[in-house]
Amino acid sequence: MKNISETSLITPYGGELVSLVTESSERKKELIALSQSLSSIQLTARSQCDLELLANGGFSPLDRFMGENDYLRVLYEMRLNNGAIFPMPITLTADPAELPEIGKYIALKDSRNNLLAVMQLQEVFSWSPRREAQLVLGTTDSRHPLVSEMETWKKVCISGPMEVVSLPKVFDFIHLRLTPKQVRAKLAEIGSAQVVAFQTRNPLHRAHEELTKRAAKSINGTLLLHPSVGMTKPGDVDHFSRVRIYSTLVEKYYQDSPVLLSLLPLAMRMAGPREAMWHAIIRRNYGASHFIVGRDHAGPGMDSKGQPFYGPYDAQNLVAKYASEIGIQPLFFQEMVYLKDEDRYEEIDKVPAGAQVLSISGTQVREEYLAKGKQLPGWFTRPETSDILSQVYLPKHKDGFCLWFTGLSGAGKSTIAEIISNMLLEYGRSSTELDGDVVRTHLSKGLGFSKADRDTNILRIGFVAAEITRHHGVVLCAAISPYRSIRDECRKMIGEEKFIEVYVDTPIEICEQRDVKGMYQKARRGEITGFTGVDDPYEPPVNPQIRLDTVSHMPEENALEIIGYLKQQGYLL
Ligand code: ADX
Repeated sequence: MKNISETSLITPYGGELVSLVTESSERKKELIALSQSLSSIQLTARSQCDLELLANGGFSPLDRFMGENDYLRVLYEMRLNNGAIFPMPITLTADPAELPEIGKYIALKDSRNNLLAVMQLQEVFSWSPRREAQLVLGTTDSRHPLVSEMETWKKVCISGPMEVVSLPKVFDFIHLRLTPKQVRAKLAEIGSAQVVAFQTRNPLHRAHEELTKRAAKSINGTLLLHPSVGMTKPGDVDHFSRVRIYSTLVEKYYQDSPVLLSLLPLAMRMAGPREAMWHAIIRRNYGASHFIVGRDHAGPGMDSKGQPFYGPYDAQNLVAKYASEIGIQPLFFQEMVYLKDEDRYEEIDKVPAGAQVLSISGTQVREEYLAKGKQLPGWFTRPETSDILSQVYLPKHKDGFCLWFTGLSGAGKSTIAEIISNMLLEYGRSSTELDGDVVRTHLSKGLGFSKADRDTNILRIGFVAAEITRHHGVVLCAAISPYRSIRDECRKMIGEEKFIEVYVDTPIEICEQRDVKGMYQKARRGEITGFTGVDDPYEPPVNPQIRLDTVSHMPEENALEIIGYLKQQGYLL
C-alpha cells in the first residue's frame, strides 16, 4: 500500500512541504540572542495563525508572508507569482515607523513579547484595504467580518524569508493539534490512501455527521475531521466547546469507519468561494485526497441590506472550476435536510416529492432553543452535543448583552443610558456604563480626536464591552462612535447576537441648539477641529435595532422603548 507520508505533494508546483521551524537548539539560541538587538513587531492573533501554517507547511508552496508580486497576482488571478493556484492573500502588515532598513532583520513576537520568528526584511509595499476587500471578498460592506477588521490593519505589508524559533504557544487539546507532517503520518498508519477532509467552524449536528459519513463511504476511505480552531466567524461557538463535542462524537458515533480528528490553527477569512479553494489546498497539504464542500461553505451570513454575501453554491462552482489544478478532489453536497416521515437525512435535491422536510438554522439553534433554555431535538443533534451547548449558552434573560448608543454629541445618549441603567435594576439586572466622556478620563486618557485616536477610543470601549458580555454582564456604551466600520468591529468583538445598536437620531441643528457642553460653538469658531457633524463625518447606522427620536419623545419615553425591545427579545423577563 502507498504510504501517504512518503508521497510528495500531489501538485504540479509543490514538491516537499515547506518547513520554516528551526530544528537546531544552537540556532534557536543564536536567533534569540540576535533578536535582542533587533527592531521587533507584535503579531496579531490572525498573523500568529498565519505564521504557524506558513511555518509547518499548511500553506505550501507559500513559504513567507507575501511579497508584492505574489500579493498582486493572488488578488487578481488567485495565483502565486510562480503560477501555483492560491486564492488568499497572506500578508503581514506593519507601521512603517517600526521597520528597519530593507535587508536588515526584524523580530516577530507574540502579544506577550515572546520571540516567534526572525524575518529578513526584503520588501515593504503599500496596500489598499478596499481593493483587497473588493477583489478577495467581493464586497466592501463593513458588515463582512473581515472588511471591518481590515480597516484596523497597518499601513504597509512586509515580506522576506523567515526562520521560526517557536510556534505560537497554546495549552489546550495539545494531543489533537497535529502538523501536516504528523497528520500524514497518522493517516499512513490508518492505511487508506483515500482520505476525505471535512472543514468546520461549528458544532457537529446530525446533518454534518451524515455528510461526513457519506463522504467517507463514497471513497471507501478515512475521514479527516479537521475543524478550524484559529479565528472563525465572530460570535461562533468557542472552539473549546466545539472540540469537546467533536471528541465525544468521534468516540461514540464514528466507531464503524476510520476517522482522524485533528485541529487546524487557521484564521478564517469568511471569504466564501475563495476560502473554499484555500481550505481545499490546505487539506491537500495535510495529506487528504478529497475535500467536502457543502452548502454556503465559509459564508459570513448577511450583508448590511440583509442579503447573503455569497450564493449557497458559489463556493462549489469556483472549486469545481479549479479542481484539476488544486491537487485534491472536491466532494460536493447539497444542503442536507431531515425527512421527518422516513427519519433520515437526505440532500435537498434528492428529497421525494411531497416529503416533509425539517431543518433548524444556526440562528434558530441559538435564538429558539439555547437562548430559551430549550433542549434541541434528537433528530437534529446528538444529546451529548445538546448538553455541551446548553452548558455554554445561558438563557437570554440571564446572559449578557450590550446596548450600543451612537449619535452626535448632545444627541442624548448618556441621558438615556443613565435612565436605562436604573430601569434595568427593576428587573434585577445591573449594568456597567461605558460613557465616551468618562472613558476618556481614565481608560483612554491622553487620546485626542484624530481619526486614529477616536478609533482607538471606540475599540477600547468595544474591548471592555466584549469582556463584560462574555462574562454574562450587561453593558451600556454611550459614545458618538461616528465611524460605521469601527462600530462594526465592536459588534464583532461583542458578538452579533449580543450587540444592540441604538441610534439616537437627533438632527445636528437640535444638538447644536442644546450645545450642553458648548462644543458646537467652539467648533464653529474653529477653536476645535475634527468635530463630528461640523467638520468630521458622522456615519449613521444602516440597520440599527432601535432608532430613537429625541425631538418629540422625552428621554424616559425613549428608555421605555428600549425596555420594551429588551422584553420582546427575551433579554428581560
Ligand atoms: S464553514 O464556515 O466552515 O464552511 P460550517 O462549519 O457550518 O461552516 O460548514 C462546514 C462544511 O459543512 C462546509 O463545507 C459547509 O458547506 C457544509 N455544511 C454545513 N451545513 C450543511 C448542510 N446542512 N448541508 C450541507 N452542507 C453543509
